[in-house]
Amino acid sequence: MKNNVSAVIGTQWGDEGKGKIVDLFSEKADYVVRFHGGNNAGHTVIVDDKKYPFHLIPSGILHPNAIGVIANGVIIDLEVLVSEIENLQANGINLKKKLVISPRCHLILPYHKALDSAYEMIRGKNERSSQWIGKLGTTGRGIGPAFADKVSYNGIRIYELLEWENFVEKFTFQTKIKNKILNTFKVTPINIRKELKKLSRLREIILPFVKDTYLLLQKALDENKNILFEGAHGVMLDIDFSPYPFSTGSNVITGSVNTGAGIAVQKIATVWGVVKAYTSRVGGGPFPTEITDQLANTIREKGGEYGTTTGRPRRVGWLDLEAVKFACQISSVTDIALTKIDVLSGLKKIKVCIDYKLKGKPISYSSCGYSELSTLTPIYKEFPGWEEDITNIRRFKDLPKNCREYLEFIENFLRTPIKIISTGPSREEYIKL
Ligand code: GDP
Ligand code: IMO
Ligand code: MG
Repeated sequence: MKNNVSAVIGTQWGDEGKGKIVDLFSEKADYVVRFHGGNNAGHTVIVDDKKYPFHLIPSGILHPNAIGVIANGVIIDLEVLVSEIENLQANGINLKKKLVISPRCHLILPYHKALDSAYEMIRGKNERSSQWIGKLGTTGRGIGPAFADKVSYNGIRIYELLEWENFVEKFTFQTKIKNKILNTFKVTPINIRKELKKLSRLREIILPFVKDTYLLLQKALDENKNILFEGAHGVMLDIDFSPYPFSTGSNVITGSVNTGAGIAVQKIATVWGVVKAYTSRVGGGPFPTEITDQLANTIREKGGEYGTTTGRPRRVGWLDLEAVKFACQISSVTDIALTKIDVLSGLKKIKVCIDYKLKGKPISYSSCGYSELSTLTPIYKEFPGWEEDITNIRRFKDLPKNCREYLEFIENFLRTPIKIISTGPSREEYIKL
């Protein structure tokens, strides 16, 4: 029996439009599951002209039947989670019986955010000695330090919040260690009493949502429920397969559904790779197809390429199919959701990277570290553009010929069918194939 499990994975450097695609598929979902990353993710859903930015709560939650699950692989900043819960409730979305949080989730605590900023500050001071040990441009949300604590056995999980005394003891112990480190950076130490007071209020709000998500999802699988896994970030930020350290703290590829939610990958029937019609990236690091002239501003403004989490202007570039090919391969992408094609309308020429060359020889994305990625030459194929606004088009055959040819090239190159073409930010703006 074919099951109803699918995953949505970002195939570039994040911000491909995963939120919109997850919302689209969630109409039929029983469970929508975040399984990795933290509130460095920013997923935007627009319904009836209202914008909903999601950071921790799954983007499918707006659909009445979908239950949002934050599974064990996600790290949680309670302040962000509670403000998201309160904002949704203020918008009339009652989360009672609609949100489940794993007790295995690790917490992002105030000292993680302070350490994230402190490391960035100190790296920034190094900028003159080497461009590669300067600032990374993290989101400043404490992601790297919280994941580091998880794997060095210094993390604190939601589980500890169940027994407040245990939490107080662990938090106090860890904060004292972290304050010593912060002191060496000459950064204001964390006030334990003040933070505990805040955390105690946040704890009360989230405890009713805490439940074993592993059992919940296994039962859902047995009952052939519709389960949708919502990926965050993009494969080019994966902690193992990115040009480290220009990475995020978690694995992003499909395999992290298994470690991050307990569902084996062979149970996933459909893996949607979300591919933006061009590329964007926030923060530092190599970006082979980056556009640095006036055209970058044109695309940035038209595409609204400003961070959902930090508001930073995103760097933009041409579609990099060498990188996306790798992302589709490593994540076993079965279907493509192609987004933001409307943003390219009006450009005279559109370029797409089909190969990398280093010192005259071909090199694949997987063989590149940051040094290779920053010095290689992208090989481009050029396409003629189209003038028409395509936002309101709902059938593939009604798209301008040059647009269709661009899309067909992508599909053939990736040897993966494009099944959804998103033509605008709103829920109804898409073409189904
Ligand atoms: P995510 O992190 O992958 O979920 O993407 P973000 O939400 O951070 O960024 C994508 C941005 O593009 C958001 O502002 C979306 O509302 C918007 N968006 C999504 N799909 C489309 C599309 O097809 N066309 C246009 N113009 N905007 C889109
Ligand atoms: P969504 O889910 C774009 C980037 C940051 C930075 C690097 C490390 O919205 O696609 P971190 O705070 O994770 O330690 O920062 O990773 N980054 C993202 N860029 N979209 C995201 O998520 C990102 N999550 C992390 O900009 O370069
Ligand atoms: Mg985003």
